[in-house]
Amino acid sequence: QRVLIAYSGGLDTSCILVWLIEQGYEVLAYMADLGQEEDFEAARQKALKIGAKKVFIEDLRREFVEELIFPAIQANAIYENVYLLGTSLARPIIARNDQVRFELAYYALKPDIKVIAPWRIREFYERFPGREALLVYAAEKGVPVVQTASKPWSTDENLFHISYEAGILEDPNVTPPKDMWKLTVDPEEAPNTPERITITFNKGIPTKVVNHNDGTTETDILKLFIYLNTIARRNGIGRIDIVENRFIGIKSRGCYETPGGTILRIAHIDLEGLVLDRQVRALRDQFVTPQFSQLLYNGQYFSPEREFLSASLLESQKSVNGEVKLKLYKGNVIVEGRKSDTEKLYDMDESSMSIQGGFTPDDSEGFIKIQSIRLKKWVFSLTHLVKY
Ligand code: ARG
Repeated sequence: QRVLIAYSGGLDTSCILVWLIEQGYEVLAYMADLGQEEDFEAARQKALKIGAKKVFIEDLRREFVEELIFPAIQANAIYENVYLLGTSLARPIIARNDQVRFELAYYALKPDIKVIAPWRIREFYERFPGREALLVYAAEKGVPVVQTASKPWSTDENLFHISYEAGILEDPNVTPPKDMWKLTVDPEEAPNTPERITITFNKGIPTKVVNHNDGTTETDILKLFIYLNTIARRNGIGRIDIVENRFIGIKSRGCYETPGGTILRIAHIDLEGLVLDRQVRALRDQFVTPQFSQLLYNGQYFSPEREFLSASLLESQKSVNGEVKLKLYKGNVIVEGRKSDTEKLYDMDESSMSIQGGFTPDDSEGFIKIQSIRLKKWVFSLTHLVKY
């Protein structure tokens, strides 16, 4: 029988690969290139060496940007006010080591699939109660192991972000060591000269980035996103450290770097201020953004509710066209201006403090009077209650 393993090249999946062969399977290995900085050729050789019949490596970076990252930017997606969902977003695109999210995705895409999850098979988890046992097994079977003793935490990396969890980070009061952060430079060591850029959006999707310091221009979605990562990284942008609530009810401490995504989120939110209708924005903020973020986090991407939210998101982004000017400086993304040639909700005369708008002082007086009816009643009844 043939089985396809979602292979990362690390200790767990390498041992599982060997173990599956031991169980009598013919094993094919699948690796997804989601932009993680990794030597894929070396991983291919390793999989073949330990017995895989074939190794498939697929570059999924473009569809990751197009189908997950940019929609998340359109949604201003964020979990518990801080986490930009870098791992959750990659899950629908690949299959690796995240039980609930992965398995739900497999069943939704191919209901009759047979999933082998070794970490839930008694025979497997009793034989390998921890990392030690895996290391022994790896040595026995000639599985090459990359020494990770110097990095006492676990990471998950893709084009959007890297996460750091577990190990010494489990104490939420332990400050991450300086050399943990892999993608971004320390903001304290970032250049003393700010970089100024302009990002153009079309229907909430970034379509162009211009760097005013050196004239660099990118318009291809993948190149543009990789370029934003590059400039964010050198300016120390996108580090966070949070204690988050996992789906199953456990609290967990995580550190993340989301360089390009942090710039895009700030730029997109700013442009919406200029071009989005107030009520559309309020509904989207109260409902679509939190629900979309939550369902991503909880592994419900392939679901009817996600399609429903995506459709309304698309509708909300029709008017999100224009440009945002930004300054990148020592970990900060500072908005310096925005404009839109097509959207006309903002009226300079109407908003001006020096020009009379489309209403009179009498109109304003009436407006305030009516607004006060309810508030006056509330104040009077309050006084009455406090008097007892
Ligand atoms: N806590 C983050 C999330 O749930 C990152 C998880 C990364 N961990 C992992 N095993 N890949 O999205």
